[in-house]
Amino acid sequence: MERKNEITMTVNGRTFTFREGRDFESSDMLSVVLRERLGLTGVRVSCEQGACGACTVLMNGKSVLSCMLPVAEADGADIMTIEALDGSDPVVDAFVNTYGPGEGTAMQCGYCTPGFVLEAHSLLNENPNPTDEEIDEALSGHICRCGCYEGIHIAVKKAADHICKCKEGGECNEKD
Ligand code: FES
Ligand code: FES
Repeated sequence: MERKNEITMTVNGRTFTFREGRDFESSDMLSVVLRERLGLTGVRVSCEQGACGACTVLMNGKSVLSCMLPVAEADGADIMTIEALDGSDPVVDAFVNTYGPGEGTAMQCGYCTPGFVLEAHSLLNENPNPTDEEIDEALSGHICRCGCYEGIHIAVKKAADHICKCKEGGECNEKD
C-alpha cells in the first residue's frame, strides 16, 4: 500500500487531517488515533488482537475492528464512534431499556456496549429486518465478559423492529 504522510478522515461529522510524526506513527492503528488524538475513549480497547470486538467503529457505515486497522487505511473514510449517538438512537435506546422480566439486561459494566451497538448498526444498515440467526452471526465476534448475550440479542431485535417499522412509515413499538 502506498505510504501516506498525511491522512484525512471524517469522524462523527467533523473532518480531521493527521500528519505522520506529529499526530500518528505509521504503525498506529485507527483505535490509537481515535482515542489518543481525538479523545474518543468510547472506542474501547481490550484484546488488541481482533478477538473481542470492543474496539468496533463504523467505517463508511460498516463495522471494522479499529485495533486491527492501520490508520492509513482509514484515509478518506467516514468514521463513526459511539460518541456520535445519544439516547434518541434506536439501538442505544433498546440497549438502555432492555431489562424487563424475561429480558435479562443488555448492559452491566458497559465496557463491551459501544462495540455491540455499532455492530448492530452495521447489521441494520445492511439488513433492517434480520433473523435471530443473522443477529447471532453478526454479533459472534463480540465478547461480553458480564454475559449479557441474551439481553443484547433482545435489544438488537427491538432496535430492528423499531427501525423497520419507521422505514415502512408505520408506528414504532418503542415508547415516545
Ligand atoms: S480490542 Fe479490538 S478486537 Fe479486541
Ligand atoms: S456489559 Fe460488561 S462486558 Fe458486556
